[in-house]
Amino acid sequence: MSDFKEIKPSELTSNPFELIGSDWALVTAKDRERCNTMTASWGGVGIMWGKPVAFTFIRPQRYTFGLMENEEYYSLSFFEESYRDALKFCGSKSGRDYDKAKETGLTPCYDEKAPYFEEAKLVLICKKMYSQFLNSESIIADDDVAKWYPENDFHKMYISEIVKALSK
Ligand SMILES: Cc1cc2nc3c(=O)[nH]c(=O)nc-3n(C[C@H](O)[C@H](O)[C@H](O)COP(=O)(O)O)c2cc1C
Repeated sequence: MSDFKEIKPSELTSNPFELIGSDWALVTAKDRERCNTMTASWGGVGIMWGKPVAFTFIRPQRYTFGLMENEEYYSLSFFEESYRDALKFCGSKSGRDYDKAKETGLTPCYDEKAPYFEEAKLVLICKKMYSQFLNSESIIADDDVAKWYPENDFHKMYISEIVKALSK
């Protein structure tokens, strides 16, 4: 049985720079048959249209991208350091080729609007509010276009309401 406790997003005490940038997150959305997850270290949390939100950036070639497009909800799961290898796996292998939950031993929970993982220490259930591809015209420094998008595979940005935060 899960020992998650629902908290308000404003009660989060973790430093988001560490949580997302250093510890990494799993972005999880569901497929028709099963969920898929991928590691993300770009993104943020904040306020938009008066709501607590998460910002998530997904390149179009990710298997997760199609799931993000099809679903209204997805989750961000955060883990203790001992799960680093699982996050490395989910950040280097595709759901097109692997059932990542099976391969990593992570346990998906399906009792929310979006799937998440039982082993997480913190979960944000996110409802999409706005999405848009980044584009070269809007990137101020040409260097950044050349550095990050030589293949023209611009991330799509999702701004999503955090409808539920679960913490252990
Ligand atoms: C530390 C780390 C951070 C990553 N951050 C992102 C990210 O923010 N956005 C993104 O599109 N891909 C990111 N990736 C790459 C995806 O996790 C990776 O391509 C993954 O295999 C995609 O899986 P999928 O095809 O099942 O969606 C990251 C990978 C790692 C290892």
